[in-house]
Amino acid sequence: MATGGATEIAELHDQIAQLQAQLAQAHKLTAIGELASTTTHEFNNVLMTIINYAKLGLRHKDDATREKSLSKILAAGHRAAKITNGILGMARNRSDNPEPTDLTRLIDDTLMLLERELRKYRVAVEKQLAEVPPAMVVGNQIQQVLLNLVINARQAMPQGGRVIIRLAHDAEGGMVELTVRDTGQGIPAEKLPRIFDPFFSTKAGPDASGRGGTGLGLSMVREIIEAHQGRIRVESTVGQGTAFCLKLPVAKASDSAFITTNASLPTDAPSSAETG
Ligand SMILES: Nc1ncnc2c1ncn2[C@@H]1O[C@H](COP(=O)(O)OP(=O)(O)OP(=O)(O)O)[C@@H](O)[C@H]1O
Ligand SMILES: [Mg+2]
Repeated sequence: MATGGATEIAELHDQIAQLQAQLAQAHKLTAIGELASTTTHEFNNVLMTIINYAKLGLRHKDDATREKSLSKILAAGHRAAKITNGILGMARNRSDNPEPTDLTRLIDDTLMLLERELRKYRVAVEKQLAEVPPAMVVGNQIQQVLLNLVINARQAMPQGGRVIIRLAHDAEGGMVELTVRDTGQGIPAEKLPRIFDPFFSTKAGPDASGRGGTGLGLSMVREIIEAHQGRIRVESTVGQGTAFCLKLPVAKASDSAFITTNASLPTDAPSSAETG
């Protein structure tokens, strides 16, 4: 019967939606797992530096060597603090509600997590960050978007290259623009319309760093941006590179009241923390 068929189809749609949600969740966890191993490795390097310089300082009693050892230990300590801050950055904004978010900080937190990987693949990062007002976003999700875009950019440049991250303010449109540009292989025009489709991938499978190949990265990116009432645009030239430009809504003055109460600041704290 026609109605029975319709119910079945609706059920199948439901099942597909559920499976997609599960896959997206699995993808997210994979990304977090990979980041955990990357940062653990990096943290270990820092610890080795500290241990080795401490040994050096203990072995050599002269002031010059001790001075040098201590300053190396201090620098390594600072770096360790930066790494944990980056991880805390991911943990910050765990809420699933949009909040006024400092995108400059979010970019720094994210790059910190990818620094080692980018260095390994000889990818230089160039930041062009204008002063922008806070964006009304779920920080966690936008960090995931950024991770996906930067990892894709890195994978498009197997011989190394440049990632340019740009922040700009579109005051008229009330949006913050976040662009991730690379100098990689580019995307052929016939593939461009498909890159946001779930499971569309041109990668054979995970690379040496265990990344890429499921084809879910950009479909999640699109979903997140749409949920934010934002926009995403791609420009690509084969052999020259690709740019993903995101537009995200600026937090309104009334949103800052939310952040103030939410952060339970003293009531006499200035409420003008965010101004457009
Ligand atoms: N910056 C880029 N340069 C060139 N091609 C790209 C870029 N970003 C995405 N692509 C193309 O779009 C496809 C889909 O990207 P997407 O991130 O969704 O999946 P993936 O990277 O293959 O796998 P994963 O799910 O692990 O991210 C890629 O396989 C690649 O062909
Ligand atoms: Mg990807």
